[in-house]
Amino acid sequence: MKIARLTLSDRASAGVYEDRSGPEIERITHSLHPGPIEWVRVVVPDERHVIEETLRQLCDNETCHLVVTTGGTGPASRDVTPEATRAVLERELPGFGEIMRVMSFEKVKTAILSRSTAGTRGRTLIVNLPGNPKAIGECLPLVFPAILEAIKHLNGE
Ligand code: MTE
Repeated sequence: MKIARLTLSDRASAGVYEDRSGPEIERITHSLHPGPIEWVRVVVPDERHVIEETLRQLCDNETCHLVVTTGGTGPASRDVTPEATRAVLERELPGFGEIMRVMSFEKVKTAILSRSTAGTRGRTLIVNLPGNPKAIGECLPLVFPAILEAIKHLNGE
C-alpha cells in the first residue's frame, strides 16, 4: 500500500517547529495495519493553491492509494484544507468528517471546530484529519476500517 501523509502548517513547513503530526499518522497507521507501507512524506504551508497542486500530484502522479492530510481544518482564516480538498475531489465522502466530529465530541467539545472532509480522486482516497497529534489518535482509528474498505472498492476488489 502506498500512502502519503501531508502536513499542512505554515510553521512546520517554515521549520519554526517540528512536524509531530505526520510521524503520528505513520505510527498509528502501522499499529492498525501490519502490512508493508510505502510512505510519501510532505509538509507544505497553508496556501490553498499549493495544497491543491500537492494533492493532485499525490493522486495523479504518485498514484497513492491513500492521502492523509493533517491540519488546516479549523475556522481560522489560514485554515483552507477542506476547500483545497474539495477542489480536487471527484466524489466527496462526507461521512468521514461527520463521524470524527460526532465521536470526538464525546471526549473533546472543540471537535466540532474541525471542518474535515474526505473523498476520492481517481483511485486515491483523500482523508482530512485535524492538526493536533492527539486528535490524530482520536480520529484515525475511528475511520480506518472504512479507509481499507474504500481502497478495496477503488481498486476493483
Ligand atoms: N478533534 C479531536 N478528536 N481532538 C481534538 O483535540 N481539536 C479541535 C478540532 N478537532 C480536536 C479535534 C480543534 S481545537 C480545532 S481548531 C479543529 O480540530 C481544527 O484543527 P486544525 O485546524 O489543526 O485542523
